[in-house]
Amino acid sequence: MCGIYGYVGHNAVKETLNGIKKLEYRGYDSAGIAFLSHTFKLNDSIKNFKDNVMCFNSGINIIKEKGEINKLKNIINKLNPKSQTAIGHTRWATHGKPDVLNCHPHYSENGNWAVVHNGIIENYLELKQKLKKVNFVSQTDSEVIAQLLSYNFNGDVLKTIQKTCEQLKGSWALAIVNNKQPNKIYVTKNNSPVVVGLSKNCGVVCSDLNSLTNINNCYVLSNNNFAVVEQNKITIFNEKLEQINLKNIKNENLKNADSMGGFKHFMLKEISEIPTAVKNTVSNYNSFEKIKKQLPKTIVKKTKEILIIGCGTAYHAGLVGKKIIEDNLKIKVNVEIASEFRYSNFKPNKNTLVILVSQSGETADTIKACKISKEYGLKTLAITNVKNSSICFEVDYVINTFAGREVAVASTKAYNCQIAIFYLLSAYFKAVKQNMPELVFEEEKKLINIAKIIEQNKINQVCLKVAELIKNEKNIYFIGRGLDYYLALESSLKLKEISYIHCEAYPAGELKHGTISLIDNNTFVFAFVTNNNILEKTINNINEVCSRGGKVITFSQFNVNNKNLYDFIKIPNIEPNYAPLVLIPYFQLISYYTSLLIGNNPDKPRNLAKSVTVE
Ligand code: M6R
Repeated sequence: MCGIYGYVGHNAVKETLNGIKKLEYRGYDSAGIAFLSHTFKLNDSIKNFKDNVMCFNSGINIIKEKGEINKLKNIINKLNPKSQTAIGHTRWATHGKPDVLNCHPHYSENGNWAVVHNGIIENYLELKQKLKKVNFVSQTDSEVIAQLLSYNFNGDVLKTIQKTCEQLKGSWALAIVNNKQPNKIYVTKNNSPVVVGLSKNCGVVCSDLNSLTNINNCYVLSNNNFAVVEQNKITIFNEKLEQINLKNIKNENLKNADSMGGFKHFMLKEISEIPTAVKNTVSNYNSFEKIKKQLPKTIVKKTKEILIIGCGTAYHAGLVGKKIIEDNLKIKVNVEIASEFRYSNFKPNKNTLVILVSQSGETADTIKACKISKEYGLKTLAITNVKNSSICFEVDYVINTFAGREVAVASTKAYNCQIAIFYLLSAYFKAVKQNMPELVFEEEKKLINIAKIIEQNKINQVCLKVAELIKNEKNIYFIGRGLDYYLALESSLKLKEISYIHCEAYPAGELKHGTISLIDNNTFVFAFVTNNNILEKTINNINEVCSRGGKVITFSQFNVNNKNLYDFIKIPNIEPNYAPLVLIPYFQLISYYTSLLIGNNPDKPRNLAKSVTVE
């Protein structure tokens, strides 16, 4: 969470503003920029923004504003500051409410240092004790870094940063400026992502690789690397400050990734892209040989159990993966929430393959779960949508989804692609075990066909109708069995995340063990019935809800409509196993419309961020 961006070169403030705008998905409760200029003085126009602007004699100036970046942009446009060096930040608050004082960049009391930080400094209270004489202005953990840099300063900027980092505990990606080196940005990290890049006439620092558009040479920093970014060069050091060379990663600039392409919101655009995203993903792995390149046969042969780990939507995709693999292969699959796994005493059996699912590849808990799995000596495989994201540098093997950039906070097309990979992986495992390589190709064909079904299924009107029905509700329940339950979990998350309506998902048979007491004449319940093997059982549960007055809307490809139902929505005729792929777009779209009808911004729900890089 939180995005950091910095720029050394012509028009650095504007460039930095554009840079943090691309990172707004990481947090959007306040934003700020620090830049070096001795000519930007506190004149009358600046005085109108006295709470937002600070000008230090050191030449470091800071402009901050609460709320989305456009508000900061308005101030910057009015003041039009000119500088060659700037660092910026878009915040997702962890310590201290989202106001101007807590907004980054933070600065030292003497104004000689400014810092933007992504992560959490766990020992900040302890460090504040050490800096008793310093007048802290914010409630954040991050301010302590700026004050500590000033306290530690020994005449050498880089060594001071190194010493300061040795005193920090927690996680950080830092971009730092100092008045003595006005044309340089200093960058370092520990367990929070950051990359540096160089192009013609500019050096940059950024939280993520994919937001570095038009930058030719990119370097992903490892923990305790230090980088000095200048207009025409980047120098990188290890933790002992010995100069090192990092691999130059040629950035693939994703075409049209940042544009809404005529859609009203990114979320709507991304839902509409599901068929293409699934097709692109599966056609990249349309043969046994292509998956083998990502995950060798020997690993499959050794694998006795699978452990899938993820958070939120990625965790839900993992649950679907479990069902697909267990049904197909009769291998035991466990699924864990990353933040729970990392503090549990659950030690997987040896010969367990750990699959980490993460759209962004930056989720702190998932990355930590990966590290723990490796400490246990287990092989790890990441399923991620972002090439060269942090998780790719941690795992043994990577399978990418090709959903294209996902900007809306609510994950949509990435979920479908993660599931698609599980079908293919399951086919690959079977192909290895039964020596039938053609199974992968056959599975890919089935998935292409499912993508076509999703494409042809026109669901806008029905989703809008359902959104109208539920927009004023306070509580909504979702029920299903097996895969339908996992689908219910994801549907419920999507709806609550962007509508703020309280939603809960239950296994249909579990309702009468407590939750059914909440059902009354006004309660909406969505029921999913896509598996004919347990169809009767779920119908019994639906009837139990109807008898208590619940307004049940059932989704099914079977003719299970009856007079007790409030509504029945027939989905395309598909094999039960593939239901999650075809059914979830309904709830992605229902959630979108509900959020819109309520007056929320579906792309930027309150309190959330797209990339959760703190634990
Ligand atoms: O980037 P990741 O897939 O690791 O993110 C995991 C979750 O934070 C994410 O899926 C979250 O639950 C979404 N906002 C749900 O729509």
